[in-house]
Amino acid sequence: MQFALSTGALLLIATACIIAAGCMLTSQQPAGSGNAGTPSLDNSVALPAPRIAGSVSVEEALAARRSVREYAKAPLPLSGLSQLLWAAQGITDPAGLRTAPSAGALYPLEVYVACGNVSGLSPGVYHYLPQSHALEKSIDHDVRDDLYRSALRQPAIRDAPAVILIAADYNRTIRKYGERGARYVHMEAGHASENVYLQAYALGIGTVAIGAFDDRSVQSVLGLPQNEVPLYLMPVGKARM
Ligand SMILES: Cc1cc2nc3c(=O)[nH]c(=O)nc-3n(C[C@H](O)[C@H](O)[C@H](O)COP(=O)(O)O)c2cc1C
Repeated sequence: MQFALSTGALLLIATACIIAAGCMLTSQQPAGSGNAGTPSLDNSVALPAPRIAGSVSVEEALAARRSVREYAKAPLPLSGLSQLLWAAQGITDPAGLRTAPSAGALYPLEVYVACGNVSGLSPGVYHYLPQSHALEKSIDHDVRDDLYRSALRQPAIRDAPAVILIAADYNRTIRKYGERGARYVHMEAGHASENVYLQAYALGIGTVAIGAFDDRSVQSVLGLPQNEVPLYLMPVGKARM
């Protein structure tokens, strides 16, 4: 039997293969992790697999996105947090490429989240692990009040159920590109942050990109490694109706 596939059909098949590979990568669970949201002995928490279909178009999200600084009291669902972290730095290609572009594919960004009221996650600080689409807990208590004081007492940080941090290890990029690498790192933080804004809007979640904070204080509150510089804080929570 002969098969004559149109270019459209071939494109469809190729797209399906890439998506399947991406999902296999992103839903891969770290050794020892249980169900999504369940901490394991090694302090890692598997996240629900990211969804790659939604009901809000990119155009709608671009047109309606706004910075939101007040949130509903309700907990942030783990699935929503998972989706936001994936939008920031999730892996979408078997070669390890991510949702946001990166100069030389060197990926200098690291993403953390300070959780206070996320369903299925105990309060604390977690590091996002793109390779396994999981979280690794590094601090075991709610740090949002401390973070609020580190960020000029901006109420959004104290009030949001969770605060995402985008940090960077500049050396990964500067090693290859010299001083120009610093510029690239800042551009990349912008890409990741905008991804979070658009994904948040599509999920009915509010967020704001916050750049006004004391670097050393944020570094200390979140227990960041010395080589990582905080660039953006993004409080996230269900938008108030
Ligand atoms: C680099 C940068 C730093 C920002 N820092 C803060 C901040 O510290 N606090 C804040 O409430 N908003 C901050 N914002 C959000 C801006 O205030 C907001 O984007 C602007 O008012 C435009 O509103 P829109 O995002 O709703 O379009 C920042 C935005 C950018 C791009």
